[in-house]
Amino acid sequence: MREKKIYFDNSATTRPYDKVIEDMVNVYASNYGNPSSLHTMGINSEKLIKEARRSIGNELGVKASEVYFTSGGTESNSLAVEGYINANLRKGNHLVTSKTEHPSVLEIFKYYENNGFTVDYINVDHKGMVDLEELDKKISDKTLMASIMMVNNETGTIQPIEKISRIVKKNNRDTVLHVDAVQAFGKIRTNPGISGIDMMSLSSHKIHGPKGTGALFVKKGFRLNPILIGGGQEASMRSGTENVPGISGFGIAAGICFQNIEDTWEKVSILKGKLKNGLLENLDCIEISPEHGSPYILNMAFEGVKAEVLLHHLAGENIFVSTGSACSSRKNIRSHVLSSMGTKNSYIDSAIRFSFSIFNELEEVNITLGAIKNIVPKIKTKR
Ligand SMILES: Cc1ncc(COP(=O)(O)O)c(C=O)c1O
Repeated sequence: MREKKIYFDNSATTRPYDKVIEDMVNVYASNYGNPSSLHTMGINSEKLIKEARRSIGNELGVKASEVYFTSGGTESNSLAVEGYINANLRKGNHLVTSKTEHPSVLEIFKYYENNGFTVDYINVDHKGMVDLEELDKKISDKTLMASIMMVNNETGTIQPIEKISRIVKKNNRDTVLHVDAVQAFGKIRTNPGISGIDMMSLSSHKIHGPKGTGALFVKKGFRLNPILIGGGQEASMRSGTENVPGISGFGIAAGICFQNIEDTWEKVSILKGKLKNGLLENLDCIEISPEHGSPYILNMAFEGVKAEVLLHHLAGENIFVSTGSACSSRKNIRSHVLSSMGTKNSYIDSAIRFSFSIFNELEEVNITLGAIKNIVPKIKTKR
């Protein structure tokens, strides 16, 4: 078997940049002071956090003081949604989200739905695009919060966030707009101020940073109830001794990603195009991801093939892909994202997600194409 791994599962997580690993090893070894300590070692750790906060704030075009570090995208989503709702219970009892959000958003909305709130889950079309007319009808003077993701993790569908913000604010200027930008940050230039976003969730391990680190942008003036209460770190928004190596590594990863953002976009666009066309030309398959979605994600359904079987055959050749999303693919339930898009069950069951990064090369696409062409006829069920 070829020893070199071909990793096309970058929406699940990414390989950290060498510079991130070097930095983190250095911080673990030499900069292990608690940022709350008053001595020099504490101050040095605090400086690292400050630098990372500034780096992420700069990339977003927001103030560093509007960036709060968390343990990742899931916690950022929780802090935004639960934190805002719990701090503003009297302002309204209506919530709006879409049917294709990540479980770390959807499950919180379901919790509030079971606890006295009215929740509208906005439909999407076959490309996964949120129905803007329905959104327009649903936002009312009772709507406390709307949460719509920027890029879908299974299909790469990109939502028109600026339009969404205009619709939300036109109907109720007090409705807060939260955006899960975990699959967008470091890939699409986003300025929450320009886009009309009040809160935005980010995750480090999707952009070649360490796992277990993320951030939440919260526009100045918004009140959130913290989920973690204690020593008052992160301006009391998120208590707990800071993950200094993780935060520092996240800041470095963000800096590198944004430096290469246009070049990487072009590179992964080419890789996605080659893989997609190669598959369409040679196999009985269809593209599920929308034509003008994120170039980082390609979702293809292979007629008569069980996705999991194809995935394991590919893994046997050191080629790593995903079925649906990494979060639900182990649970053996059909993807809520693809179901909401009206995708046929037979396609959902045969859908494979390929997701790319700066570390992928054309040669890997060619090897993968060859492998799939070879495997599919062997595992395809005859009708
Ligand atoms: C769109 C989206 N939101 C949130 C998350 C959760 O992020 P984390 O793994 O950092 O908790 C993910 C991870 O897959 C994601 O893709």
